[in-house]
Amino acid sequence: MTFRLAILISGRGSNMMAIHRAVLAGRLNAEITLICSDQAGAAGLQYAEEQGIPTQVIQKSSGESREEYDRRLIECLDQARPDLVVLAGFMRLLSPAFVRHYSGKLINIHPSLLPKFPGLHAQAQALAAGVKESGCTVHFVDEGCDTGPIIAQAKVPVLPGDDEDSLSERILQQEHRLYAECIEKIAQGKIKLDGKRVIGL
Ligand code: GRF
Repeated sequence: MTFRLAILISGRGSNMMAIHRAVLAGRLNAEITLICSDQAGAAGLQYAEEQGIPTQVIQKSSGESREEYDRRLIECLDQARPDLVVLAGFMRLLSPAFVRHYSGKLINIHPSLLPKFPGLHAQAQALAAGVKESGCTVHFVDEGCDTGPIIAQAKVPVLPGDDEDSLSERILQQEHRLYAECIEKIAQGKIKLDGKRVIGL
């Protein structure tokens, strides 16, 4: 049985594309059954359409609460029957009800070595702190912001003269490799969430 992925994006979607390339190359045994975006203009949607991957746009309507929006998002995602919901640059905080609905089946990638530099502009935070290395983290999503149980991390050096763009690019190359590798391990049942702990089998 194929392992089914639903991927949520808000923008450029380079992680989503890297995951798709891993599927095409046979490095990831999974099927992307839906790309869903909260932004109609997300650049990644065009790629998904060109590649024949089903897409959906779920925009927040005015006056709609986070809980109401997330209920609509769940309805849309569940139609794609995902085994794993993959956040790939999805720029909305998800409600506790959403996180509970996909408990153990919801992962995110963040451009820092968590727990350092959660939230927005993680690369700029790393530069401002003057750290010598940074990287990216794949983690299960819990109710906090970038606080969920860590699955894997990849490190990169912070080089003299780095700015936000150069550091982001170096981290992004690792993101593209690490995310597909982690998803493949989850698909194979080699990594699981047990309560608040990640177990590697
Ligand atoms: C990545 O840096 C990811 O770590 C963060 O948002 C960015 C998304 O980039 N969560 P892309 O849309 O996948 O290119």
